[in-house]
Amino acid sequence: MPVTYASYLKLDELLSLQQPRPGALEHDETLFVIIHQVYELWFKEVLHELDHLQRLLHANDTALAGHTLKRILTILKTLVAQIDVLETITPLNFLSFRDRLESGSGFQSHQFREIEFVMGKKGRPSFERYPEGSEPRRRVETRFAQPTLWDAFLHYLAANGYQVPKALLTRDVTRALELSPEVQRLLVEVYRKNPTVAQIAERLVDLDEGFMEWRYRHVKMVQRTIGTKAGTGGSAGAEYLLTTINQPAFPDLWAIRSEL
Ligand code: HEM
Repeated sequence: MPVTYASYLKLDELLSLQQPRPGALEHDETLFVIIHQVYELWFKEVLHELDHLQRLLHANDTALAGHTLKRILTILKTLVAQIDVLETITPLNFLSFRDRLESGSGFQSHQFREIEFVMGKKGRPSFERYPEGSEPRRRVETRFAQPTLWDAFLHYLAANGYQVPKALLTRDVTRALELSPEVQRLLVEVYRKNPTVAQIAERLVDLDEGFMEWRYRHVKMVQRTIGTKAGTGGSAGAEYLLTTINQPAFPDLWAIRSEL
């Protein structure tokens, strides 16, 4: 059989996957399912590029790291823009099928948690959401134990001649990132004297700001769709989500702004 558009993309399988429960979908449920599936596909691609980016930073390849960051940032803009589409689902339309989600929620997206881990949001993970022995559980546990993007950036700084404290280069990568006055001093020097490395740092700020923007838009969308109701995933809903916004992944890069 010659390769065709449909066979290469496994279109038959892909287009038969919009049937979350038995029976007919509510009209807006089709959009709801497709948009989540599209998000998950983008999350897969973002993880793929974040892995690549970490390898490039370790190899001190500034040009390709910059290119990869630009790609991730462009995808992130799409992820944020898609919320506009989601917001065409009115509160009543959403209510027409909300019960069918039962306890299902984006809260349980293992790829989103993996992205958070790569971005350095470690600390207290809730692995119990994923059944022991399952593939999602294996994936989140593996990611949790891996170095973060910030760790790769610190190695990149070291490779460019900056005296990153050894304790940071060999830190326990399962711990949450903390502010480091030493790293901030190095970053100020980078920004003043090394535009090549500073550009990579600025793209990381773009990335950080982009994820914060997604969280902000998601919580606003949640507020206009379900108000203050609890989430299907068992959290307090918008009240919980508000606790997750405005928390930069790379705090050192924000802290130095007032020093420049
Ligand atoms: C009508 C649409 C949506 C509503 C009403 C909604 C609502 C919520 C709520 C209430 C939560 C808090 C957790 C809980 O369920 O208790 C949550 C979390 C989350 N949602 Fe949505 N959501 C919607 C669409 C989406 C979409 C399209 C995505 C894309 C994948 C998404 C991804 C997430 C993620 C990743 C979390 C976890 C955030 C965190 O813990 O920091 N949501 N959502």
